Amino acid sequence: MDHSPTTLIGDALNRIDGPAKVTGKAMYAGDHRIEGGIAEGYIVEAPAGPGRITKLDAAAAENAEGVIAVLTYRNAPAQKPYGTPEDEGRFTQSHAVLENDQVRHFGEPVALVVADTLEQARHAASLVEIEIEASEGVFNPIDHRDQEVKPESVDGLDEVDTHHGDFDPEFAGSEFTVEASYFTGAQHSAAMEPHVTVAQWDSEKLTIHMAIQIIASAVSAFANTLGIDEENVRIISPFTGGGFGSKLGVHNEAILAALAAKHCGRAVRVAQTRRNVFSNGPHRSRHLQELKLGAGKDGKLKAIRHYSLAGMARNYPFAEAPASPTRASYAANAIHTIHRVVKADIPKVDSMRAPGEAIGTLTFETAIDELAEKCGIDPVEFRLINEPEADPTGRDAFASRRLVECIKSGAQKFGWSGRVKPGARREGRKLIGHGMAVAIRPNTLSPASAEVILSTDGRLTARLDMTDIGTGSYTILTQIAAETLSIPADRITVELGDSSFPTTAGSGGSFGAASSGSALFDACTNLKSAISERLAKAGVSANAFTLNHDKLVAGDSEFALAELLGGDGLKAEGSVDPDNHGNGKAEYSYGVQFAEVEVDADTGELRVRRLVGVFDAGRILNKKTARSQLMGGMIFGIGGALLEESMMDDRYGSFMNRDFAEYHIAVNRDVPDLEVHMLDGFSQDSNPLGSKGIGELGICGAGPAIANAVYEATGVRVRKFPIHLEDVLHHLPAL
Ligand code: MOS
Repeated sequence: MDHSPTTLIGDALNRIDGPAKVTGKAMYAGDHRIEGGIAEGYIVEAPAGPGRITKLDAAAAENAEGVIAVLTYRNAPAQKPYGTPEDEGRFTQSHAVLENDQVRHFGEPVALVVADTLEQARHAASLVEIEIEASEGVFNPIDHRDQEVKPESVDGLDEVDTHHGDFDPEFAGSEFTVEASYFTGAQHSAAMEPHVTVAQWDSEKLTIHMAIQIIASAVSAFANTLGIDEENVRIISPFTGGGFGSKLGVHNEAILAALAAKHCGRAVRVAQTRRNVFSNGPHRSRHLQELKLGAGKDGKLKAIRHYSLAGMARNYPFAEAPASPTRASYAANAIHTIHRVVKADIPKVDSMRAPGEAIGTLTFETAIDELAEKCGIDPVEFRLINEPEADPTGRDAFASRRLVECIKSGAQKFGWSGRVKPGARREGRKLIGHGMAVAIRPNTLSPASAEVILSTDGRLTARLDMTDIGTGSYTILTQIAAETLSIPADRITVELGDSSFPTTAGSGGSFGAASSGSALFDACTNLKSAISERLAKAGVSANAFTLNHDKLVAGDSEFALAELLGGDGLKAEGSVDPDNHGNGKAEYSYGVQFAEVEVDADTGELRVRRLVGVFDAGRILNKKTARSQLMGGMIFGIGGALLEESMMDDRYGSFMNRDFAEYHIAVNRDVPDLEVHMLDGFSQDSNPLGSKGIGELGICGAGPAIANAVYEATGVRVRKFPIHLEDVLHHLPAL
């Protein structure tokens, strides 16, 4: 018998791909090698925008050493116009680049220099002479509120606005109110691996190695942009070095690589530099959020109004929905949520990790904290008082909601002892503050499919076009197959990231594990049935069997797999259809975050000391990777509260702090003692695995818990994020 232990769903299995990553064997897109070499492309960005190119002289660049071609709008291969509406959706639409002499925004590519080496391409790029006749642009949405419009849709929600109950009388009748405006800064995903693509044509066939989160929609984007059949596009992406939403869709470097490879007749790599990412990658818009909250004497919420204003890049239909969590957090007589945008001449605005909730809970949960204080009720107690029994906007019942359990457990684990007066908690020169906030994030399931092949040596291969963006997809998928088929993990090979594999929704929106995992679970279940059928034909009726290398044991019978399955082994397919799950209930993942901060009483220096999170994300698929994901999210929350902001020069529409020296992400020194707790449990309505999305949950609530702790330490309610020391410095309580 085989004595290898069976790995189960939930086990803290080490990453399957860990050794390959730490030994450098994992091939990321930029590592790809091709016999005969790969030419290197370097992007030349527009030095102004919006506007029109009035001079573009590439002669010196073309004559520079090693240069193969300089691609501009004059010689770029034909493309379908950018943003053609019938292409349905921002990920699949034409992403045409170098289309004509028009420049949409500062930093848009106006040329691509292709050379034998990167150094040659970069040098030649500096020789390209460009002049732009700039026209007046809209850069700051908040300065152009007169142009605000209701977007056709907002990210992840069925309705742009919701009006439940009668807000005005409920607000007017509230004994305690909070009414405030909040600013959240623009942000960029700071993936370790900047966007990179290697493109190669073989007559009509285009092969792409790229960093991407969703493969299937990227195939459509290449086909739509280049006017070719989807069958002629193959995308390969076994490893992606972080995405955070920025790699959900394709970006300029990808299309430029395909155009240049065609033009030059050889493979071309285009890697965005870190600076490029800030102008050619997507970003989270800065937002203005207005909150009006009202509660009665008993601390029960009567009225909630959450209005959000964002910038939307012209011809790129995306707006995030900060008021999304507001719709389902608390019971109230009236809840109004409103999303507006101003169309602007800026780089693409798109999903960035926990779009909506990251900045929505940041403002809403700090306003709730303020209201609790006005009511004279402890913020933990305030949240318990306002826990809704059903979805507050009256849509549906909740699928499993264990928020109260999270809050109670979190308070105990953190050692929450109730609020103190600002400035009252001290250690020497440090003002200490405690704060808490709720985390909430919609849970979704997307269509996905998978195939599994059991070979006659007893090895299982699973294939899906799912991606692993550093999250642990390889590992949890291995566990799902191992448990379902009782095969040891080391006899399973999960192959991901290839458009020739069955289609999934990829990695995004925290739906990746549930969607691809459910499809794989179905494929494994189907394989099991197919094996049972073979056994029945052989005269053995057995629902349970064990695989022992090239043998299968069912009851007292043993079969050689080669005989039972035939020489090619056995293949099964599976899928998941979200329409068959959910039971119409409102689905969210939940959590609570508690923070302890210290503020230097002389300098105002802000430091997070401790973060404790307790999360309800249904059944945990792997305790180790889940914990890592939640920790990553909480660290992202520190960035949102205290560090990350892409600052635009509103005279020119250009981001100014385009590197990690000036765009501050939390580094080890900024990351305190992090505690992650998970309430493990099967979420009946969510999907066949009983799991809920976990990837973005850890971000939600982390920022406002920190902001609320800063308030307790200093007495300052900062309404702009990130919070800097100068926001509290002149208001610090005297020592
Ligand atoms: Mo996410 S913003 O879908 O990686």
